[in-house]
Amino acid sequence: MELKEVIGRRRTIRFFLPFRPVEREKIQKMLEAARRSSCVGNVMNVRGIVIWKDQASPELIKAITPPLGYQQMQTAPAFIFWYNDIAAYQIDKWIGDLHKLAESRRIGTDVASTKAQIDRGLRPAFAAAWQQAAVGPLAFMDVGQAIAQATLVAYDEGLSTCCMSSPRLEQVGKLLDLPETAVPVCLQAVGYSAEQWEAGGQTVKPPFESLFFEMRHGTPFEADPAVEEELRREKMIQAPAPLAWREAELKYLMTALGLEERITAFPFPAAAPTGNGAASSGAAGDAKS
Ligand SMILES: Cc1cc2nc3c(=O)[nH]c(=O)nc-3n(C[C@H](O)[C@H](O)[C@H](O)COP(=O)(O)O)c2cc1C
Repeated sequence: MELKEVIGRRRTIRFFLPFRPVEREKIQKMLEAARRSSCVGNVMNVRGIVIWKDQASPELIKAITPPLGYQQMQTAPAFIFWYNDIAAYQIDKWIGDLHKLAESRRIGTDVASTKAQIDRGLRPAFAAAWQQAAVGPLAFMDVGQAIAQATLVAYDEGLSTCCMSSPRLEQVGKLLDLPETAVPVCLQAVGYSAEQWEAGGQTVKPPFESLFFEMRHGTPFEADPAVEEELRREKMIQAPAPLAWREAELKYLMTALGLEERITAFPFPAAAPTGNGAASSGAAGDAKS
């Protein structure tokens, strides 16, 4: 499949075929795509742990189950637990990674002088900032970039996925032998879709001009209808949800998979106010959807 069509066909899938295992080699391809992603200084802070449902203890499945995860957790045969390992940013490691970029002729033009500039110019600043950078926006963006690449490869391989909010460290740390430097980011269900690949249509997104600007915030980057038409032909832009038969498909899925009419995997604990005013779902983890 062409890249633009893969992007167009990707949509979150929550109903999987529980009887159809995911091939190990397809998961390997997803992980390789994640390994090929870009990131700050090539420190590669992304980590993923593959969890096969049929080999996981009930305790582990319970611990990784997110609040909005009923259908996925009931039906997906595999999961990838993605996390940020802040140890990847440790100052000597970070500087070492930059040196390797110089040695492999990816940055700078002269190896010795580039390394000297890294040591003299960057090391002092990075030494002061690495602990903050390791949990800063760019570190999590890079985990996201890796997950996005893995996700697109999954769809290219005929798989489907659903990213879910991450279990909390205290719930899974021991069960997964996580290092203290792990910061959980996301749990991704992986499997073969029980839904038609259309899944009732492409997920509707906010208008283009409301998201993207030109030169300054508030001046929309105006989309050219001819380009939209080209992307429609290339299947990146597809028929929006819900397609006419979605209602019937959902009923069919619920019956075929023996699912209850609910989306939450367990009752939500009462929301408690947090410092920034956002509601927290307490021990159950943040409910992102
Ligand atoms: C980081 C992340 C966390 C998410 N958490 C959940 C979740 O806990 N439960 C769920 O049902 N969907 C979850 N989703 C799926 C989103 O609801 C979905 O991606 C969104 O509706 C956009 O749809 P699309 O992926 O089809 O474009 C999550 C997605 C992301 C990227």
